[in-house]
Amino acid sequence: MIFDRNEQKAVVALLGAGSMGTAIVRRIGAGKKILLGDISEKTLERVGDDFRHCGYDVETVQVNALKKESVEAFARKAAELGPVMYFIDTAGASPNQAKPEHIVDLDMVGTGHAVDAFGEVMAEGGAGLIISSQAAYMYPIPNDIELQLVNTPTAQLKGVKFIQEVAMQNSGLAYMIAKRMNHLQAQRAAATSWRKQRARINTISPGIIVTPLAYDEFRASGEGYQAMIDASAAQRVATSDEIADAAAFLLGEHARFITGTDLLIDGGVIASIRTGEFKLWQ
Ligand SMILES: NC(=O)c1ccc[n+]([C@@H]2O[C@H](COP(=O)([O-])OP(=O)(O)OC[C@H]3O[C@@H](n4cnc5c(N)ncnc54)[C@H](O)[C@@H]3O)[C@@H](O)[C@H]2O)c1
Repeated sequence: MIFDRNEQKAVVALLGAGSMGTAIVRRIGAGKKILLGDISEKTLERVGDDFRHCGYDVETVQVNALKKESVEAFARKAAELGPVMYFIDTAGASPNQAKPEHIVDLDMVGTGHAVDAFGEVMAEGGAGLIISSQAAYMYPIPNDIELQLVNTPTAQLKGVKFIQEVAMQNSGLAYMIAKRMNHLQAQRAAATSWRKQRARINTISPGIIVTPLAYDEFRASGEGYQAMIDASAAQRVATSDEIADAAAFLLGEHARFITGTDLLIDGGVIASIRTGEFKLWQ
């Protein structure tokens, strides 16, 4: 049976076919060509089948977001399938899953390579989204260092003194700094490479979203997470579908004047920290 006779459909490329990424693609992917990339073949097989069985037009490809060449090949593959109108990057590791260097390599440098590679292939008027984290708001980086970081080419990021001396100290710091760097990466791309095609790029900084990655965090730092939930205005965790609601807005027509910015979706955790209602470092 031919399910869809349309040709040259808009392409949606997802790097990191995990919980949040697939929720976002389900929300925006109907009638489009979907390309799912992940390091795990098992995940790709499972998620690819789920999408196919639900009527989506989907292809899968193994990608290692740690490797520049692999991400570039992924971007080229997306462009071969049609006009790349959407790119979503959710490939990441959290503090309790990895050592500082891996977090810097994946969440910071890997994201940078992906944003650079998709800057080359985005179609006119396309839209991109990086999943950052509320952690981006937890360690204020001095302005002069941010200015240096925003203007550092991706391949040289790891060599910056601040990254070597501060981010590499522990996985928590590496994660906070890498996730803040995602905001800066979106700003730089919005102003330079993505701007050429009038393509928009933004970040979402989620709070505690229940996914397999979050369960690794709860197992290792359950008390800390419970304290954050209790200190938040929402008084609860959230689901990937709630992030997908906001992602659909940022990737869609109603956000056509929004680029280079971040949307914090944390149930009020950062508001509690910023006002001193909740002491993060005790
Ligand atoms: N869950 C939360 O509470 C939370 C909160 C804030 C931010 N985040 C961020 O959201 C993003 C998505 O996380 P999630 O909760 O959906 O987790 P998830 O574990 O469901 O998804 C992450 C995906 O990234 C893939 N991945 C890991 N390393 C990769 C690599 N080298 N190359 C390609 N793919 C790779 C994994 O296989 C997995 O499918 C992450 O960047 C995470 O840091 C999560």
